[in-house]
Amino acid sequence: MTAASAAHPHERPLDTPADWWRQATVYQIYPRSFADANGDGIGDLRGIISRVPYLASLGIDAVWLSPFYPSALADGGYDVADYRDVDPRIGTLDEFDEMVAALHAEDIRVVVDIVPNHSSDQHEWFQAALAAGPGSPERARYIFRDGKGPGGGEPPTDWESLFGGPAWTRVPDGQWYLHLFAPEQPDFDWSNHEVRADFLHTLRFWADRGVDGFRVDVAHALTKDLTEPLPSKAQLEAIARGGDHPIWDRDEVHEIYAEWRKVFDSYSPPRTAVAEAWVERHRRPRYASPEGLGQAFEFDLLTAEFEAQAFREVVDDSLELAGISGSSSTWVLSNHDVVRHATRYGLPPLDKPVGSTESEDKQGRAWILAGAPEEALDRDLGLRRARAATLFELALPGSAYLYQGEELGLHEVGDLPDEARQDPTYFRSPGVDKGRDGCRVPLPWTTTGSSFGFGDDGAHLPQPEWFGASSVEAQDGDPASTLSLYREALRLRRSLQSAERLEWLEEFTRGDVLAFARPNGWVCVTNFGDEPAALPDGEVLLSSAPLDGDRLPGAATAWLRAS
Ligand code: BGC
Repeated sequence: MTAASAAHPHERPLDTPADWWRQATVYQIYPRSFADANGDGIGDLRGIISRVPYLASLGIDAVWLSPFYPSALADGGYDVADYRDVDPRIGTLDEFDEMVAALHAEDIRVVVDIVPNHSSDQHEWFQAALAAGPGSPERARYIFRDGKGPGGGEPPTDWESLFGGPAWTRVPDGQWYLHLFAPEQPDFDWSNHEVRADFLHTLRFWADRGVDGFRVDVAHALTKDLTEPLPSKAQLEAIARGGDHPIWDRDEVHEIYAEWRKVFDSYSPPRTAVAEAWVERHRRPRYASPEGLGQAFEFDLLTAEFEAQAFREVVDDSLELAGISGSSSTWVLSNHDVVRHATRYGLPPLDKPVGSTESEDKQGRAWILAGAPEEALDRDLGLRRARAATLFELALPGSAYLYQGEELGLHEVGDLPDEARQDPTYFRSPGVDKGRDGCRVPLPWTTTGSSFGFGDDGAHLPQPEWFGASSVEAQDGDPASTLSLYREALRLRRSLQSAERLEWLEEFTRGDVLAFARPNGWVCVTNFGDEPAALPDGEVLLSSAPLDGDRLPGAATAWLRAS
């Protein structure tokens, strides 16, 4: 299919270079929590349309929308009931077209989330699978197995889902189905040709409507080897990931992405994709290769401590991987799954691990789920470091993925009442992991008023009192605000952008300080420590905190034009 034959009546493709994504700034919108135009407490497409001027004022290149599809919201929309429609609570397909046109008119591209590992249990295919019974072609689109033990009453294996609890759920006729996530998210069987064909259809459906790219959820789990006998949980965990692990990061997953690539490249400009793939470092380039999805998220900066050596190692490593894949680096500090970076950086170091994984501890999630007291959080330090880390991130070669609200310096809402929580990880832990709702609280647009300007009648997750002081209204026009810092940084980034390289300025890269230069003389210096540091010669263009005379204070970044 060509773009010409596929042209949707509302499509106005951007006249954009094919490699627009390489150093783009992509702003993630979590639609239910961005802006609510119809006053039902849930953000919607009309809300996004009404905020296009705001998005344009930020100076971003693209938005990425988390799922807005019909969903029972068992996992915030990552349980998709229909891949080719809009949730009626969020809008209509016509409004989607209107939104794309409005964003394109501002030169902002649109990336949508594709969730191929699992559907919602409300999806018509899963409902048909339940109705059709064991051995049916309907069941073959998912992963159904007979149970073990007397009457098949025990699950096929003792595997646990990523959200806690068993990974198998029994249906009334006695069979069990696999769900790596919540029970409401049955895993597809990707060896089934109908599943493959249907996703190609979905990709074309959105590409035909003018969508510029796709974010691919859990991209490393699609193909599975579930030949009998299935391994136990302990055996599964002992198998190295990569290549031939029964579930994660199997080599043949790339056959799927090679097919998808043909679809992407049949459009002009080619549609882009970015993989969410939690895989071994050396396996990442496969997802990011031009024959595959083209880009893969790197979460190493997100999981790194705010510490000079840790940041430097991540940068060197990422640039090396980009060299291998031919893609560009992808920088992320916050998203809808992790504690906001302003909060992570204000948390005390953990004396002992509390979370179930090291990465959870590093994300600060463990601290939140352990119910640490508010007094333990140094909000000012966290925000100061977050501003410094953001300027560091935005000066790096490659693309930056920002998460809604970070431009306001928002902190995590750590103390949501338990009865307000929505995240399945909270319910399935149960209650031990507080979940991800704290970074998904609807945005504050105004200092006062119902739901701080998010909508006319409340918000689906309660907003704390302090949101007003962090609102867009409170920060707009204040040169010292975090919103102004982001706007200025994104404006400068456009004008300073150059080849995807950097050179460490070793003379200034010492102890707690990192300094690097991009090829055209754009210099970035970050001080991760407490003591003021010397700056290289040059014109200071921007700093995340006021300079201390001609020195860079602690927990701060400055951009300079080398003289
Ligand atoms: C998404 C999560 C989601 C999970 C299951 C992820 O990695 O980012 O928000 O819960 O996939 O779809």
